[in-house]
Amino acid sequence: MATMEDHVARWFDVQSVPLSHTFPPENRPGKLPFPTCSAIPIINLSNPERLDTVQKIIKASLNFGFFQVINHGVSECVSTEALNVLKELFNMPGEEISRDAHKNGWVHMGSTMYAIDGVHLWRDNIKHPCHPLEKCMQHWPQMPTREVMATYVQEMRRLSFRILELISEGLGLEKGYFEEISQVQFLSASNYPACPDPSVTLGVLKHFDHSLITILFQGNVEGLQVLHDGKWVGVGVVPNAFVVNIGTQLEIMSNGKLRSAEHRAVTNSEEDRLSIATFINPSPNCIIEPAKVLINESNPPLYDSFLFKDFIGSSKAFGPFTELVQTKD
Ligand code: OGA
Ligand code: NI
Repeated sequence: MATMEDHVARWFDVQSVPLSHTFPPENRPGKLPFPTCSAIPIINLSNPERLDTVQKIIKASLNFGFFQVINHGVSECVSTEALNVLKELFNMPGEEISRDAHKNGWVHMGSTMYAIDGVHLWRDNIKHPCHPLEKCMQHWPQMPTREVMATYVQEMRRLSFRILELISEGLGLEKGYFEEISQVQFLSASNYPACPDPSVTLGVLKHFDHSLITILFQGNVEGLQVLHDGKWVGVGVVPNAFVVNIGTQLEIMSNGKLRSAEHRAVTNSEEDRLSIATFINPSPNCIIEPAKVLINESNPPLYDSFLFKDFIGSSKAFGPFTELVQTKD
């Protein structure tokens, strides 16, 4: 039975956008809707022509920094169930989630908790370390999430390694090149409630992902936008697809043969949107540098080498709780 508390208004339950969430004009997305980009490649991972798949991935990663994958072997119910349990989690009272997060080593950021340049994002966010699974899973709330998320997390690990393997093949790197490097995985789920005026708010400010790769499930509500040729374009919803994007570390390791593209999330006035991002990251002690085999006289290194932990330390690459989600070596 519904209690009084259930009826207490949540932060987003408003008729107009409060000043606390109104971005200054230069940061606003402006007039919506933006065009959905039909050119971002949709890649069929069950294509028996492996070479064709590899080439399409490399081309998409250079041109857009983004592509979508279908027929990827992750069953539809795994991702929809994950969306559903996360939705339930986000619907719990904010203080309750925050208390659990604080106690158990994961991150909950309600929309009013963290301002960037004085303005709040139109989203609630949770971040959770995912690897090694046995160590991380016990920290999820038992109900409603643990088992469902364990399956999702494992499937994302499998899928990301499969994609990284195709990429290393396409770049001419040795088999398993990225495997040892990709020992950190965390999940970042965002709840973007329907917004009375999407033209003045943002779900996520424009940014680059500082991962190796990111795999995003955006359910069936559009909202992710990519900067392409200087224009913002929407990444369309493709049923049961995952959006894959190249992170900064992979751009560097590929010596610029793959591109990390800037992107952001806009809100919409019609319906709530929930997304689940999986970040595959290097371990803190990894040396990040262009792969040796890609460097020769006509291809000098475009980036200096550095320790990933130094990059993280100086940039807080994954937000104010970077250390928590970036498992130590
Ligand atoms: C991110 C991100 C976009 C989205 O979490 O890094 O870009 O659509 N998310 O939620
Ligand atoms: Ni991102």
